[in-house]
Amino acid sequence: MVYLVTGGAGFIGSHLCARLLREGRRVLAVDNFSTGSYANIAGLAAHPGFSLVTGDVRDQELMAKLVREADVIFHLAAAVGVRHILHHPVETLETNILGTHVLLSLAARYQRLILVASTSEVYGKSRRERFSEEDDLVLGPSHLSRWGYACSKLADEFLALAYHRERRLPVIITRLFNTVGPRQTGRYGMVLPTFVAQALRGEPITVHGSGRQTRCFIHVAEVVEVLIQLTGEPRAVGEIFNIGSTEEVSIAHLAQVVKEITRSSSPIVFLPYEQVYGAGYEDMDHRVPDISKIQSLLGFSPRRRLSLIVREVADWLREDAAAVASFGRRPAAD
Ligand SMILES: NC(=O)c1ccc[n+]([C@@H]2O[C@H](COP(=O)([O-])OP(=O)(O)OC[C@H]3O[C@@H](n4cnc5c(N)ncnc54)[C@H](O)[C@@H]3O)[C@@H](O)[C@H]2O)c1
Repeated sequence: MVYLVTGGAGFIGSHLCARLLREGRRVLAVDNFSTGSYANIAGLAAHPGFSLVTGDVRDQELMAKLVREADVIFHLAAAVGVRHILHHPVETLETNILGTHVLLSLAARYQRLILVASTSEVYGKSRRERFSEEDDLVLGPSHLSRWGYACSKLADEFLALAYHRERRLPVIITRLFNTVGPRQTGRYGMVLPTFVAQALRGEPITVHGSGRQTRCFIHVAEVVEVLIQLTGEPRAVGEIFNIGSTEEVSIAHLAQVVKEITRSSSPIVFLPYEQVYGAGYEDMDHRVPDISKIQSLLGFSPRRRLSLIVREVADWLREDAAAVASFGRRPAAD
């Protein structure tokens, strides 16, 4: 079996490639290195089952070649990260909508199973205690670029299901909630690597807003495991699945855990959203998945505790001085 992983040099993609190779699969990774990095997959380069193609998912001709070679496609390539999305709205929409359209149309032409990575962001401002796959989605207005990411991923979902219904494309949609672990970059506003780098530098750990907003963090290894299992489950085809932890953690508490685990003297400071993202930025208070659907299909239950995840991220970052130096510092033009 050949697995095509788009966004294979990214955070989740690189863990997925490594996991597939450990299972003895052949992996074809494609990435344009916009947010991914060669360092993420350097350890795989010498593996005989691994091939890397530098290219863009919007490149129809290149993708046709790769899709034809593959048996299963994991479509992870996307413009991601709050800061990246706010600064590059055109690239976000084009990559996430046009890129996914290219992959879906080719997967339909060659009848390949494709798993599309969507996001918990599609639940938007919903105030439900737990988000379940069939809930209404409550998105913000189009003049706020922040919502472009959620809308682009939602468009992907509609398109994927349309291809499934009309062109019999075998497709699986996964809504990933906050996924964390080693190799996640803190350059584009991801909270955990940013906090850990700030703590290791002994600089203020910057919590945006009141810090009372909560999130649920799941280890990337658990996500990758579920993604692979889903592609082996015929009942998953044509379905949408939440994937995430249900353990709610406030961002202020996360900052405290990071400070303790890294034994940092950093103060924890609170910055208003307007100061960080400009006027009109909207954030959600809570975002907890209802994971009963994936639990009943695969018996999946996230197990890794937050403190262990933070320790692992800190250990990884201690080995990477350049990342520690840059994460959480606002780049001039990202
Ligand atoms: N990490 C999370 O918490 C999270 C949560 C929800 C959804 N997701 C989804 O999971 C997927 C992977 O995210 P990640 O966290 O690993 O981010 P990432 O930025 O590390 O990975 C995305 C990868 O896609 C590549 N890419 C971007 N545009 C491309 C293009 N046009 N052509 C080819 N490659 C391109 C990037 O270079 C990068 O390597 C994304 O689809 C994202 O929307 C992630």
